[in-house]
Amino acid sequence: MTKQELEKRLIEIRRHLHQHPELSKEEFETTKSITGWLLEKDIEIRQTSLPTGVFAEIKGGKPGPTIAIRADIDALPIQEQTGLPFASLAEGKMHACGHDFHTAALIGAAYLLKEEEEQLTGTVRFLFQPAEESGAGAEKVINDGQLEGVDAIIGLHNKPDLPVGTVGLKDGPLMAAVDRFKVVVKGVGGHAGLPQKGHDPIAAAAQLVTALQTIVSRDTSPLENAVVSVTKITGGNSWNIIPEDVTLEGTVRTFDSAVRQHVKERFYQISEYISQAFQVESAVKWYAGPPPLVNDPVITDITRAAARSLRLTVVNPERSTAGEDFSYFLHQIPGSFAFFGTNGAEDWHHPSFTVDETALIKAAYYLFNSGKELLKHVQVREGVLG
Ligand code: NI
Repeated sequence: MTKQELEKRLIEIRRHLHQHPELSKEEFETTKSITGWLLEKDIEIRQTSLPTGVFAEIKGGKPGPTIAIRADIDALPIQEQTGLPFASLAEGKMHACGHDFHTAALIGAAYLLKEEEEQLTGTVRFLFQPAEESGAGAEKVINDGQLEGVDAIIGLHNKPDLPVGTVGLKDGPLMAAVDRFKVVVKGVGGHAGLPQKGHDPIAAAAQLVTALQTIVSRDTSPLENAVVSVTKITGGNSWNIIPEDVTLEGTVRTFDSAVRQHVKERFYQISEYISQAFQVESAVKWYAGPPPLVNDPVITDITRAAARSLRLTVVNPERSTAGEDFSYFLHQIPGSFAFFGTNGAEDWHHPSFTVDETALIKAAYYLFNSGKELLKHVQVREGVLG
Protein backbone atom coordinates (compact mmCIF):
# COMPACT_ATOMS: atom_id res chain seq x y z
CA MET A 1 0.00 0.00 0.00
CA THR A 2 1.50 3.38 -0.96
CA LYS A 3 1.32 6.31 1.41
CA GLN A 4 -1.36 7.90 -0.80
CA GLU A 5 -3.43 4.71 -0.80
CA LEU A 6 -3.17 4.43 2.95
CA GLU A 7 -4.18 8.07 3.41
CA LYS A 8 -7.24 7.57 1.20
CA ARG A 9 -8.21 4.42 3.12
CA LEU A 10 -7.81 6.07 6.53
CA ILE A 11 -9.98 9.01 5.46
CA GLU A 12 -12.66 6.52 4.34
CA ILE A 13 -12.42 4.73 7.70
CA ARG A 14 -12.60 7.98 9.64
CA ARG A 15 -15.62 9.17 7.64
CA HIS A 16 -17.39 5.85 8.16
CA LEU A 17 -16.88 6.14 11.93
CA HIS A 18 -17.94 9.78 11.80
CA GLN A 19 -21.24 8.89 10.13
CA HIS A 20 -21.95 6.14 12.64
CA PRO A 21 -21.07 7.50 16.09
CA GLU A 22 -21.86 5.41 19.18
CA LEU A 23 -21.92 6.57 22.79
CA SER A 24 -19.81 5.21 25.66
CA LYS A 25 -20.43 1.49 26.35
CA GLU A 26 -22.60 1.21 23.21
CA GLU A 27 -19.78 0.95 20.67
CA PHE A 28 -21.01 -2.36 19.21
CA GLU A 29 -20.94 -1.52 15.49
CA THR A 30 -17.69 0.41 15.95
CA THR A 31 -16.18 -2.69 17.59
CA LYS A 32 -17.30 -4.86 14.63
CA SER A 33 -15.91 -2.39 12.09
CA ILE A 34 -12.51 -2.07 13.78
CA THR A 35 -12.22 -5.85 14.12
CA GLY A 36 -12.99 -6.21 10.41
CA TRP A 37 -10.43 -3.61 9.38
CA LEU A 38 -7.71 -5.30 11.45
CA LEU A 39 -8.57 -8.78 10.17
CA GLU A 40 -8.29 -7.50 6.58
CA LYS A 41 -4.55 -7.29 7.27
CA ASP A 42 -4.36 -10.49 9.35
CA ILE A 43 -3.70 -8.60 12.57
CA GLU A 44 -4.27 -10.84 15.59
CA ILE A 45 -7.24 -9.94 17.79
CA ARG A 46 -6.86 -10.58 21.53
CA GLN A 47 -9.46 -12.21 23.72
CA THR A 48 -11.54 -9.89 25.85
CA SER A 49 -14.42 -10.14 28.27
CA LEU A 50 -15.54 -6.60 27.47
CA PRO A 51 -18.65 -6.21 25.28
CA THR A 52 -17.11 -3.30 23.34
CA GLY A 53 -13.58 -2.28 22.46
CA VAL A 54 -10.98 -4.10 20.35
CA PHE A 55 -7.57 -5.33 21.48
CA ALA A 56 -5.00 -6.56 19.01
CA GLU A 57 -1.33 -7.41 18.80
CA ILE A 58 1.55 -7.65 16.37
CA LYS A 59 4.46 -9.82 17.53
CA GLY A 60 7.68 -8.73 15.89
CA GLY A 61 10.20 -11.11 14.31
CA LYS A 62 12.76 -10.29 17.01
CA PRO A 63 12.51 -10.32 20.82
CA GLY A 64 12.06 -7.12 22.79
CA PRO A 65 9.67 -5.20 24.99
CA THR A 66 5.90 -4.97 24.65
CA ILE A 67 4.50 -1.53 24.05
CA ALA A 68 0.87 -0.45 23.73
CA ILE A 69 -0.75 2.23 21.60
CA ARG A 70 -4.22 3.37 22.61
CA ALA A 71 -7.07 5.09 20.79
CA ASP A 72 -10.50 5.87 22.22
CA ILE A 73 -13.53 4.99 20.08
CA ASP A 74 -16.68 6.56 21.59
CA ALA A 75 -18.77 9.59 20.61
CA LEU A 76 -20.86 12.20 22.45
CA PRO A 77 -24.59 12.98 22.89
CA ILE A 78 -24.42 16.12 20.71
CA GLN A 79 -26.45 17.01 17.60
CA GLU A 80 -23.92 17.65 14.84
CA GLN A 81 -23.98 21.07 13.16
CA THR A 82 -20.95 20.89 10.87
CA GLY A 83 -22.94 20.53 7.62
CA LEU A 84 -20.28 18.07 6.38
CA PRO A 85 -21.32 15.66 3.59
CA PHE A 86 -20.32 12.79 5.92
CA ALA A 87 -22.00 14.20 9.03
CA SER A 88 -23.44 11.90 11.68
CA LEU A 89 -26.41 9.78 10.62
CA ALA A 90 -27.29 9.08 14.25
CA GLU A 91 -29.73 11.57 15.72
CA GLY A 92 -28.25 13.43 18.68
CA LYS A 93 -24.89 11.64 18.52
CA MET A 94 -21.62 12.98 17.18
CA HIS A 95 -17.89 12.35 17.12
CA ALA A 96 -17.42 15.83 18.59
CA CYS A 97 -14.14 14.96 20.31
CA GLY A 98 -12.47 13.42 17.26
CA HIS A 99 -12.22 9.87 18.59
CA ASP A 100 -13.01 8.79 15.00
CA PHE A 101 -9.72 10.47 14.04
CA HIS A 102 -7.83 8.67 16.83
CA THR A 103 -9.28 5.29 15.84
CA ALA A 104 -8.45 5.74 12.15
CA ALA A 105 -4.92 6.92 12.99
CA LEU A 106 -4.31 3.82 15.13
CA ILE A 107 -5.58 1.53 12.37
CA GLY A 108 -3.12 3.28 10.05
CA ALA A 109 -0.28 2.68 12.52
CA ALA A 110 -1.29 -0.98 12.84
CA TYR A 111 -1.25 -1.39 9.03
CA LEU A 112 2.20 0.20 8.81
CA LEU A 113 3.61 -1.89 11.66
CA LYS A 114 2.17 -5.06 10.13
CA GLU A 115 4.12 -4.38 6.93
CA GLU A 116 7.34 -4.31 8.99
CA GLU A 117 6.37 -7.17 11.30
CA GLU A 118 9.53 -9.22 10.69
CA GLN A 119 11.87 -6.36 11.56
CA LEU A 120 10.06 -5.30 14.74
CA THR A 121 12.06 -5.85 17.95
CA GLY A 122 9.24 -6.73 20.32
CA THR A 123 5.46 -6.71 20.48
CA VAL A 124 3.00 -3.90 19.79
CA ARG A 125 -0.43 -4.09 21.37
CA PHE A 126 -3.32 -1.96 20.13
CA LEU A 127 -5.96 -0.80 22.57
CA PHE A 128 -9.15 0.49 20.92
CA GLN A 129 -10.66 1.62 24.20
CA PRO A 130 -14.39 2.08 24.77
CA ALA A 131 -16.09 4.61 27.04
CA GLU A 132 -13.49 7.35 27.38
CA GLU A 133 -16.15 10.04 27.62
CA SER A 134 -17.86 8.36 30.56
CA GLY A 135 -14.46 8.06 32.27
CA ALA A 136 -14.95 4.35 32.94
CA GLY A 137 -13.31 2.70 29.93
CA ALA A 138 -9.61 2.70 30.78
CA GLU A 139 -10.09 1.03 34.17
CA LYS A 140 -12.20 -1.69 32.52
CA VAL A 141 -9.46 -2.29 29.96
CA ILE A 142 -6.89 -2.62 32.76
CA ASN A 143 -9.15 -4.98 34.74
CA ASP A 144 -9.61 -7.03 31.58
CA GLY A 145 -5.84 -7.69 31.60
CA GLN A 146 -5.03 -5.80 28.42
CA LEU A 147 -2.13 -3.96 30.06
CA GLU A 148 -0.49 -7.14 31.35
CA GLY A 149 3.09 -7.51 30.17
CA VAL A 150 3.14 -4.02 28.67
CA ASP A 151 6.29 -1.98 29.35
CA ALA A 152 5.19 1.41 28.04
CA ILE A 153 2.13 3.02 26.48
CA ILE A 154 1.44 5.96 24.20
CA GLY A 155 -1.63 7.69 22.82
CA LEU A 156 -2.72 10.97 21.34
CA HIS A 157 -5.57 13.44 21.26
CA ASN A 158 -6.33 15.77 18.38
CA LYS A 159 -5.87 19.44 19.30
CA PRO A 160 -7.89 21.99 17.30
CA ASP A 161 -5.77 24.98 18.35
CA LEU A 162 -2.51 23.42 17.15
CA PRO A 163 -1.75 23.60 13.42
CA VAL A 164 -1.53 20.46 11.28
CA GLY A 165 2.04 19.19 11.34
CA THR A 166 2.52 20.13 14.99
CA VAL A 167 2.64 17.76 17.92
CA GLY A 168 2.49 18.92 21.54
CA LEU A 169 4.64 16.82 23.87
CA LYS A 170 5.07 17.63 27.52
CA ASP A 171 7.02 16.05 30.38
CA GLY A 172 4.99 15.65 33.57
CA PRO A 173 1.36 16.75 34.00
CA LEU A 174 -0.55 17.45 30.78
CA MET A 175 -4.22 17.05 31.71
CA ALA A 176 -6.16 17.47 34.92
CA ALA A 177 -7.63 15.18 37.53
CA VAL A 178 -11.41 15.54 37.32
CA ASP A 179 -13.43 15.39 40.53
CA ARG A 180 -17.11 16.18 40.90
CA PHE A 181 -18.98 17.25 44.01
CA LYS A 182 -22.52 17.65 45.26
CA VAL A 183 -23.36 19.44 48.51
CA VAL A 184 -26.81 19.39 50.07
CA VAL A 185 -27.21 22.28 52.53
CA LYS A 186 -30.09 21.49 54.84
CA GLY A 187 -31.66 24.30 56.86
CA VAL A 188 -35.02 24.99 58.43
CA GLY A 189 -37.46 26.60 56.05
CA GLY A 190 -40.44 28.79 56.75
CA HIS A 191 -42.12 32.13 56.10
CA ALA A 192 -39.91 34.57 54.24
CA GLY A 193 -41.10 37.35 56.53
CA LEU A 194 -40.04 35.45 59.66
CA PRO A 195 -36.40 34.41 58.95
CA GLN A 196 -35.54 34.34 62.66
CA LYS A 197 -37.74 31.26 63.07
CA GLY A 198 -35.73 29.15 60.63
CA HIS A 199 -32.17 28.62 59.39
CA ASP A 200 -31.90 29.86 55.83
CA PRO A 201 -29.99 27.41 53.60
CA ILE A 202 -29.81 29.98 50.77
CA ALA A 203 -27.84 32.47 52.87
CA ALA A 204 -25.56 29.64 54.02
CA ALA A 205 -25.09 28.29 50.48
CA ALA A 206 -24.19 31.76 49.19
CA GLN A 207 -21.46 32.05 51.87
CA LEU A 208 -20.28 28.57 51.04
CA VAL A 209 -19.89 29.35 47.31
CA THR A 210 -17.78 32.39 48.20
CA ALA A 211 -15.71 30.57 50.82
CA LEU A 212 -14.98 27.64 48.49
CA GLN A 213 -13.26 30.06 46.10
CA THR A 214 -10.60 30.70 48.75
CA ILE A 215 -9.36 27.10 48.35
CA VAL A 216 -7.69 28.20 45.12
CA SER A 217 -6.78 31.75 46.15
CA ARG A 218 -5.64 31.11 49.76
CA ASP A 219 -4.98 27.38 50.25
CA THR A 220 -3.21 26.45 47.01
CA SER A 221 0.35 27.54 46.27
CA PRO A 222 0.46 30.25 43.59
CA LEU A 223 2.94 27.99 41.79
CA GLU A 224 0.38 25.18 41.55
CA ASN A 225 -2.89 25.09 39.60
CA ALA A 226 -6.39 24.22 40.68
CA VAL A 227 -9.96 24.98 39.63
CA VAL A 228 -13.01 24.93 41.90
CA SER A 229 -16.18 25.66 39.93
CA VAL A 230 -19.67 25.64 41.42
CA THR A 231 -21.77 25.17 38.32
CA LYS A 232 -25.26 24.39 39.54
CA ILE A 233 -27.37 25.70 42.43
CA THR A 234 -30.89 24.49 43.09
CA GLY A 235 -33.17 25.47 45.96
CA GLY A 236 -36.44 27.19 46.68
CA ASN A 237 -39.64 27.41 44.66
CA SER A 238 -41.38 30.59 45.78
CA TRP A 239 -40.55 34.26 46.51
CA ASN A 240 -42.09 34.20 49.95
CA ILE A 241 -40.85 30.89 51.39
CA ILE A 242 -37.45 30.09 52.84
CA PRO A 243 -36.68 26.59 51.49
CA GLU A 244 -35.59 23.57 53.47
CA ASP A 245 -32.49 22.85 51.45
CA VAL A 246 -30.19 23.99 48.66
CA THR A 247 -28.03 21.74 46.47
CA LEU A 248 -24.71 22.84 44.98
CA GLU A 249 -22.85 20.91 42.29
CA GLY A 250 -19.61 21.46 40.47
CA THR A 251 -16.14 20.25 39.67
CA VAL A 252 -12.54 20.41 40.89
CA ARG A 253 -9.55 20.19 38.52
CA THR A 254 -5.96 19.66 39.67
CA PHE A 255 -2.66 18.50 38.15
CA ASP A 256 -0.97 17.03 41.19
CA SER A 257 -2.16 14.27 43.52
CA ALA A 258 -1.08 16.11 46.71
CA VAL A 259 -2.84 19.30 45.60
CA ARG A 260 -5.87 17.21 44.69
CA GLN A 261 -6.00 15.70 48.17
CA HIS A 262 -5.50 19.06 49.89
CA VAL A 263 -8.28 20.73 47.88
CA LYS A 264 -10.63 17.92 48.85
CA GLU A 265 -9.76 18.21 52.55
CA ARG A 266 -10.29 21.97 52.57
CA PHE A 267 -13.56 21.52 50.66
CA TYR A 268 -14.93 19.27 53.40
CA GLN A 269 -13.66 21.54 56.21
CA ILE A 270 -15.09 24.72 54.71
CA SER A 271 -18.43 23.04 54.04
CA GLU A 272 -18.62 21.79 57.60
CA TYR A 273 -17.63 25.01 59.38
CA ILE A 274 -19.58 27.43 57.19
CA SER A 275 -22.62 25.24 57.82
CA GLN A 276 -22.02 25.27 61.57
CA ALA A 277 -21.69 29.06 61.54
CA PHE A 278 -25.07 29.37 59.82
CA GLN A 279 -26.80 26.67 61.87
CA VAL A 280 -27.46 24.45 58.89
CA GLU A 281 -26.16 21.00 58.00
CA SER A 282 -24.31 20.09 54.87
CA ALA A 283 -23.66 16.70 53.33
CA VAL A 284 -20.84 16.50 50.77
CA LYS A 285 -20.71 13.78 48.13
CA TRP A 286 -17.41 13.45 46.31
CA TYR A 287 -17.12 11.62 42.98
CA ALA A 288 -13.46 10.98 42.11
CA GLY A 289 -12.77 10.91 38.35
CA PRO A 290 -9.55 10.18 36.46
CA PRO A 291 -6.26 11.14 38.16
CA PRO A 292 -3.99 13.78 36.62
CA LEU A 293 -2.41 12.69 33.34
CA VAL A 294 1.35 12.68 33.98
CA ASN A 295 3.75 11.94 31.13
CA ASP A 296 6.98 10.02 31.68
CA PRO A 297 9.92 12.20 30.51
CA VAL A 298 11.97 9.28 29.09
CA ILE A 299 9.09 7.93 26.98
CA THR A 300 8.13 11.47 25.95
CA ASP A 301 11.69 12.06 24.73
CA ILE A 302 11.52 8.92 22.58
CA THR A 303 8.27 10.15 20.97
CA ARG A 304 9.82 13.61 20.46
CA ALA A 305 12.63 12.05 18.46
CA ALA A 306 10.12 9.94 16.51
CA ALA A 307 8.09 13.07 15.69
CA ARG A 308 11.12 15.10 14.64
CA SER A 309 12.32 12.37 12.30
CA LEU A 310 8.96 12.75 10.50
CA ARG A 311 9.57 16.52 10.30
CA LEU A 312 6.69 17.25 12.60
CA THR A 313 7.09 20.44 14.61
CA VAL A 314 7.36 19.54 18.28
CA VAL A 315 5.98 22.12 20.71
CA ASN A 316 5.60 22.28 24.47
CA PRO A 317 1.80 22.56 24.80
CA GLU A 318 -0.20 24.35 27.43
CA ARG A 319 -1.71 22.01 29.99
CA SER A 320 -5.41 21.29 29.62
CA THR A 321 -7.88 21.40 32.53
CA ALA A 322 -9.94 18.79 30.71
CA GLY A 323 -9.62 15.21 31.91
CA GLU A 324 -8.59 12.08 29.98
CA ASP A 325 -8.85 8.54 31.32
CA PHE A 326 -5.56 7.61 29.62
CA SER A 327 -4.23 8.79 32.99
CA TYR A 328 -5.26 5.45 34.53
CA PHE A 329 -2.82 3.63 32.22
CA LEU A 330 -0.06 6.05 33.22
CA HIS A 331 -0.83 5.26 36.84
CA GLN A 332 0.20 1.66 36.10
CA ILE A 333 3.06 1.95 33.61
CA PRO A 334 5.23 4.70 32.09
CA GLY A 335 4.02 6.35 28.92
CA SER A 336 3.25 9.54 27.11
CA PHE A 337 0.18 11.24 25.69
CA ALA A 338 0.47 13.72 22.83
CA PHE A 339 -1.64 16.61 21.56
CA PHE A 340 -1.80 16.35 17.77
CA GLY A 341 -2.46 19.46 15.66
CA THR A 342 -5.70 19.33 13.64
CA ASN A 343 -6.51 22.99 12.88
CA GLY A 344 -10.13 23.11 14.06
CA ALA A 345 -12.29 26.22 14.30
CA GLU A 346 -14.08 24.92 17.41
CA ASP A 347 -12.84 23.17 20.51
CA TRP A 348 -13.69 19.64 21.71
CA HIS A 349 -17.36 18.83 22.40
CA HIS A 350 -18.72 21.65 20.20
CA PRO A 351 -21.52 20.80 17.68
CA SER A 352 -19.39 22.33 14.90
CA PHE A 353 -16.17 20.59 15.96
CA THR A 354 -14.06 19.44 12.98
CA VAL A 355 -10.60 18.06 12.31
CA ASP A 356 -8.42 18.76 9.27
CA GLU A 357 -8.13 15.34 7.64
CA THR A 358 -4.66 16.09 6.26
CA ALA A 359 -3.48 15.50 9.84
CA LEU A 360 -4.71 11.90 9.77
CA ILE A 361 -1.88 10.28 7.82
CA LYS A 362 0.59 12.29 9.90
CA ALA A 363 -0.95 10.95 13.10
CA ALA A 364 -0.77 7.37 11.77
CA TYR A 365 2.92 7.82 10.95
CA TYR A 366 3.57 9.47 14.31
CA LEU A 367 2.14 6.46 16.16
CA PHE A 368 3.92 4.03 13.80
CA ASN A 369 7.29 5.71 14.19
CA SER A 370 6.90 6.20 17.95
CA GLY A 371 5.96 2.54 18.30
CA LYS A 372 9.07 1.40 16.46
CA GLU A 373 11.33 3.74 18.44
CA LEU A 374 9.81 2.57 21.72
CA LEU A 375 10.52 -1.05 20.80
CA LYS A 376 14.17 -0.09 20.29
CA HIS A 377 14.61 1.98 23.45
CA VAL A 378 12.16 0.88 26.13
CA GLN A 379 13.54 -1.42 28.82
CA VAL A 380 11.57 -4.52 29.68
CA ARG A 381 10.26 -3.76 33.16
CA GLU A 382 11.53 -5.96 35.94
CA GLY A 383 9.16 -8.70 36.96
CA VAL A 384 7.18 -8.29 33.75
CA LEU A 385 7.16 -10.98 31.11
CA GLY A 386 7.48 -9.35 27.70
NI1 NI B 1 -11.64 13.20 23.64
